[in-house]
Amino acid sequence: MSALTDLNKDIALCRVCEIAKARTNTVPGEGAENAEIMFIGEAPGWHEDQQGRPFVGPAGQFLDELLASINLKRPQVYIANVIKCRPPGNRDPLPIEISNCQHWLDRQIELVSPKIIVTLGRYSMAKFFPGKTISKVHGTSQTQNGIIYFAMYHPAAALHQGNLRQTIMQDMLKLPPLLAQAKTVKIKEPEPKSEPSTQQLSLF
Ligand code: URA
Repeated sequence: MSALTDLNKDIALCRVCEIAKARTNTVPGEGAENAEIMFIGEAPGWHEDQQGRPFVGPAGQFLDELLASINLKRPQVYIANVIKCRPPGNRDPLPIEISNCQHWLDRQIELVSPKIIVTLGRYSMAKFFPGKTISKVHGTSQTQNGIIYFAMYHPAAALHQGNLRQTIMQDMLKLPPLLAQAKTVKIKEPEPKSEPSTQQLSLF
C-alpha cells in the first residue's frame, strides 16, 4: 500500500475540528502519486463531501475543461484541498481549520513531490503567496526550494463572475511552458565530502 493511501486513511480518522462531526466523507485528494503538477483548492463542497473526491461538482467540471485545454486529464495530476472536511453551508474555511489541517497538506506535497503547485483561489494562494491579493498575483509564478508555485483564481469564480472565465482559461495556458521550464531546473547535488589530500595523509 502506498504512503499516500496510508495518509488518506489517517485523514479519514481525523476529528480535530468541529466540522468533522458534520461530514459525510473526508476529501483527502486524488490523482497521480508522482504527479508533476499538483492543484490545491480550498475545501470540499456538497458534492465532494458526498463522494469523498475533490472537485466533482460544477467547479470541478470547469477544472476538467481547463485540464483538457492543456491536454491533461485528472489521473495525470494530483488534486487536493487546503482543508479536508466540508465547512457547513459552504462557508469559508476558518483560520483554525486551515491550521489544524495544514500538516495533512504538507505531507501530501512531500509525498507527491510535484514540480509545480497550482493554487486555486485565495485560501490556497495565502499559504504560498502570503500577503498577496489574488487579483494581482493570478497568472504569475514564483520558485521556492525547487518547486514552482503558480497562482490561479478558483474555478468556481468563473461560475459566479462570468468575466473571469476567459482570464482563468488564459492563465491555465501558461502551465505547459512553466512545466517545460520546471523540467530544465536542475536540483543542486550536494558537494562531495572532500577527502583528505594525499599530502595531508602523509602527515600521519
Ligand atoms: N472547491 C474546492 O475548493 N475544492 C473542491 O474540492 C471543490 C470545490
